[in-house]
Amino acid sequence: MTEKHEYGEYPDKTLYIPGPTEVREEVIAEMAQPMFGHRMDRMTDLYTTVVEDTKEFLGTDNDVIVLTGSGTEFMESSMLNLVDESVLVTTCGSFSERQANVAERLGKDVDTLEYEWGRAVKPEDVREALEGSDGEYDAVTCVMNESSTGVRNPIEEIGDVVADYPETYFVVDAVSALGGDYVDIDSHGIDVIFTSVQKAFAMPPGLAVCVVSDEAYEREVDKDSASWYGGFQRSLDYYDRKGQTHSTPAIPVMLAYRKQMKHMLDEGHDARDERHREMADYTREWAREHFEMFPEEGYESRTVSCIENTRGIDVAATIEAVSEEYDMVFANGYGSDLGEETFRIGHMGEHDVESVRALTDAIEDVADL
Ligand SMILES: Cc1ncc(COP(=O)(O)O)c(C=O)c1O
Repeated sequence: MTEKHEYGEYPDKTLYIPGPTEVREEVIAEMAQPMFGHRMDRMTDLYTTVVEDTKEFLGTDNDVIVLTGSGTEFMESSMLNLVDESVLVTTCGSFSERQANVAERLGKDVDTLEYEWGRAVKPEDVREALEGSDGEYDAVTCVMNESSTGVRNPIEEIGDVVADYPETYFVVDAVSALGGDYVDIDSHGIDVIFTSVQKAFAMPPGLAVCVVSDEAYEREVDKDSASWYGGFQRSLDYYDRKGQTHSTPAIPVMLAYRKQMKHMLDEGHDARDERHREMADYTREWAREHFEMFPEEGYESRTVSCIENTRGIDVAATIEAVSEEYDMVFANGYGSDLGEETFRIGHMGEHDVESVRALTDAIEDVADL
């Protein structure tokens, strides 16, 4: 039985977990405004700005939905909107396994293409699975950045494979990747790609973003079992008619979103990408000097490094001591299996090499490396 733990006073900690991540002060301040109605013109101004800026930042001509909720909402609704019967779910860690679980719960016929945790999904295996399927799959799903294992899957190549099967839609969970790891959405047959804003967008949690192709939008036309809340058509039609959301959004978070997205546009996607690459390179180098990287070589994430605890340090105690002494928080390995076997550093959003180095210095000090 969970007991009440009264909320109290807490020191600020710098976040290096795989999300939520650090949010800029001026973005946090943006949320402290008097409310306005979600059917006022002001809301149209806010939502259309947010949507169009997001399209520009992501460099896509596809439609964008910004919905109140977390990324998992689009895991569920993309299954409801696109999958009549069967789906091929590629799994290589916790979040891709969640996608399979979501689809099973919705009564879909789920085939999995499974990889050991730490390994990446291979396009040639997806091709083989599709070749043997007689075009039966309504969709193939893949997680771009497995935050549980620090693997970056080659979704561009996988998308090119799925594109050879026009009746099969390609759904990408890009939570913890988009905003720090560029993907050319429109060139690789990606029908649906979604993220949560508390990751590499560096915003407060509360909104999820989904980019939807024309084909995926049309696909839902045929369906009477599509999601209401996460229905692509409901959101996009409402946007077309009114420039607003179909139901009341988390207005404070959307105000923060507007502010942060302007900042992301100012920085530019190339520069943001480059900064994330530098952080990932730095962290990998540090990890290889003291430990090993957990993911299969060549598939390491650009936003979350999962480090194999080859020295057998006490991960939980190190996290605790770094938090106490340096007010910085990084993450243990995912779940009970990887909890002490690995640890994870989220280098995403507004961090840079200097701030990541501050963390690795702290770990070196505490763990006596
Ligand atoms: C790859 C991936 N997918 C999905 C999720 C779930 O996102 P949310 O908690 O925003 O629903 C996460 C969260 O960490 C994630 O890392």
